Amino acid sequence: MTTWTHIPILAEPIADLLLRKENGTYMDGTLGLGGHTKLFLSRLGPKARIFGFDKDEEALQMARERVADERLIAIHASYTQAPEELRARGVEGVDGALFDLGLSSYQLDNPARGFSLLRNGPLDMRFDLSADLTAEKIVNEWGLAELERIITDYGEDRHAHAIAMAIMAARREGRIDTTFKLKNIVETVVHGRGKIHPATQTFQALRIAVNEELVCVEKITDLLDKIILPGGRAAILTFHSLEDRLVKLHFKGLVETGKWQLVNKHVIVPEFAEIKHNSRARSAKLRVIEKL
Ligand SMILES: C[S@@+](CC[C@H](N)C(=O)[O-])C[C@H]1O[C@@H](n2cnc3c(N)ncnc32)[C@H](O)[C@@H]1O
Repeated sequence: MTTWTHIPILAEPIADLLLRKENGTYMDGTLGLGGHTKLFLSRLGPKARIFGFDKDEEALQMARERVADERLIAIHASYTQAPEELRARGVEGVDGALFDLGLSSYQLDNPARGFSLLRNGPLDMRFDLSADLTAEKIVNEWGLAELERIITDYGEDRHAHAIAMAIMAARREGRIDTTFKLKNIVETVVHGRGKIHPATQTFQALRIAVNEELVCVEKITDLLDKIILPGGRAAILTFHSLEDRLVKLHFKGLVETGKWQLVNKHVIVPEFAEIKHNSRARSAKLRVIEKL
C-alpha cells in the first residue's frame, strides 16, 4: 500500500503567528493530511479545538487517522461554508484560521486523481470526488471560447488560443480522457523551454476551474469578517501569483475598513533550507492579518 505524504510548509512560523490562545478555538480551512493541524495541536492545551475543513473526503480520512486527536473536528465541506458549519456546531467564531491553498502532495502524486503531468491517470482533478464537474468534462464538452478563457485567465498561458484549438481538433478523434492524452495534445502546439513542461499552465488552469479555486479565495475576506473573533488572526498560504494577488488585494480592503491590521507588512517566504528539503515550498507566500 502506498503511504502518501505531504510536508506542511512554513509550519513553525505559522504556528508562532497564529496560536495565541492556549485553549482557543481554531480553524484549518484546508486540512489536507493534517500536517499543520498536528503541529498546532502539539502546541495547544487540552481544551483547544481545531475545526478542520476539506473538500476531499479521502484526505479527511487520512488526516483523522494521522492526527488521531479528539480536539480535531474534521468536516467534509468547503471552507467557504465555515460560518454555517461552525454555527451548526454552536461556534460563533474562531481565534485563528489557516488557509493553505491549492492541492496537497497526496492529490498531486496519486495518479488516480488526475492532477499530475508525470503520471498517467483519468483526467479528473476534483478535490471533492462527489462533485459533478471534472477536467474531462471541461476538456471534452466546453466550447472553444470557454477553454481559451480559462487557459488565459487561470493558466496565464499566452498560447491559450492554440491550445484550445488543438483540444477542439483532437476531440474529433475521440474522447480526451487521460492526463497523458491532454499532455500530448498540448505538446503538439507548445514547445517547452527550460524546466517547466509546456502543459503545466493548462493543467493549472483546469484544476482551478474544476474546483472553483479562485471563486473560493474571493470569498475568504467576507468569511474572515464573519468568523474571526476580535484579536484573532488568519494566515493564508498561496502558491501562485493569481492567488497571492487576490489575497493581497482583499487584505488591503480589510485594512481599509479600520477593523483589521496586517501582521506582516512584507510577505513571508520559506527559507532556503526548507525549499531544499521540500521543493514544493519554493513558490509559497504567507500573509497574516489580525482583527482588532
Ligand atoms: C495544500 S493542501 C493542505 C495541506 C495541509 N495543510 C497539510 O499540512 O497536510 C490543500 C488542501 O485543501 C483542500 N481544499 C482546496 N480548496 C478547498 C476548499 N475550498 N475548501 C476546503 N478544502 C479545500 C484540498 O483538497 C487539499 O486537501
